[in-house]
Amino acid sequence: MLLPEPRIYRDVSLEEAILKRRSIREYSEEPLRLEDLSQILWAAQGITDPSRMFRAAPSAGATYPLEVYLVVKEVVDLEPGVYRYIPANHSLQVIKEGDYSYHLYRACLNQRWVLDAKANIVITAVYERTTSVYGERGIRYVHMEAGHAGQSIYLQSTALGIGTVAIGAFYDEYVEEVVGCEPGERALYVFPLGYIKE
Ligand SMILES: Cc1cc2nc3c(=O)[nH]c(=O)nc-3n(C[C@H](O)[C@H](O)[C@H](O)COP(=O)(O)O)c2cc1C
Repeated sequence: MLLPEPRIYRDVSLEEAILKRRSIREYSEEPLRLEDLSQILWAAQGITDPSRMFRAAPSAGATYPLEVYLVVKEVVDLEPGVYRYIPANHSLQVIKEGDYSYHLYRACLNQRWVLDAKANIVITAVYERTTSVYGERGIRYVHMEAGHAGQSIYLQSTALGIGTVAIGAFYDEYVEEVVGCEPGERALYVFPLGYIKE
């Protein structure tokens, strides 16, 4: 399904988003709006130069090793399920139907905010895309790139009044099973999302 078009103007300055960015682990009960999720996915990996298919986050040699998944619990107009973000046409592809947030919470060492979130982003990497060009050094490039995408998720979420926290502590294989990773694809990051409590 195609996602709502991202907006490129908002009344929050970049400086304000940097200043206010915090790791937030408590969320309101309000379901997430699809347009807000769409905006965060765009900030993470959206196409910002269609002529060259370059993305929002920099990538060593434009090799784009990252994949972005969404584990949906409660989003308006989006069924619970696991989805893959397709940057090329700013859309979501259904991977699995049903609410997998409990599985993800268990995979993330019972970190409560994963279960409380209305959706979680999972970033994975296909290292081969980058190491086939840069060899062993490509491994560090992939991790740097995940950091770039992660910071964009933080800043865009802040600008939308959405709380998130970078999660690196999890059982890799279990998270990879939840999102249905292909062989050679590894989980790197989880970002729970929910509106910040008033
Ligand atoms: C690579 C990385 C892994 C992290 N893993 C976790 C995690 O598993 N669980 C968690 O609650 N916070 C995690 N954090 C968030 C840090 O605890 C948080 O960034 C730090 O306490 C500073 O707070 P701030 O983000 O509000 O500035 C992680 C942050 C990074 C950068």
